[in-house]
Amino acid sequence: MRILVIYDTVSGNTERIAQLIAEELVASGNEVSCRRQSVSGEEDFMGVPLWVIGSPTHWGRAPFRFNTLLRNALKDAGNDHAFVAFDTRYEKVHSGAADRIHQLMVKEGLRPLMAPQFFMVEGNQLRQGEEERARELGRTIASLL
Ligand SMILES: Cc1cc2nc3c(=O)[nH]c(=O)nc-3n(C[C@H](O)[C@H](O)[C@H](O)COP(=O)(O)O)c2cc1C
Repeated sequence: MRILVIYDTVSGNTERIAQLIAEELVASGNEVSCRRQSVSGEEDFMGVPLWVIGSPTHWGRAPFRFNTLLRNALKDAGNDHAFVAFDTRYEKVHSGAADRIHQLMVKEGLRPLMAPQFFMVEGNQLRQGEEERARELGRTIASLL
């Protein structure tokens, strides 16, 4: 299946998770495009059946620039897509970027493959074990296709 893994990142943690998910999806035989917000546009989303969307959590939500890209993509590429939203965050207690992105996509009529996923950052690094969890998520997504 063609899959877009689209992510934003400031210090690289969300990028690392996105790349590991993408690696597992490729290993399962999918055609994966893994793109960073700063170098992507609405055209990357067009005609791709599954979007895997990853964002750092900034004040409980995705960075404004990433939200803008996602909203523009929805406008141009329509809602006939499945999606998975994940985020990175410091705290487990409140909702993060993935919850907001998930809500937006569902509201727009896209089909969620699973509940929002999150990965924990401590200091400025991924918590131990999160990289393996990212690989597991990639394999789980592949098993659902
Ligand atoms: C401006 C800013 C706001 C943040 N707000 C939150 C927040 O509301 N909740 C949280 O859990 N983490 C918050 N964080 C921590 C980020 O989620 C964490 O640094 C992020 O996962 C790093 O991802 P990246 O390495 O891909 O940039 C914030 C970080 C920054 C820089």
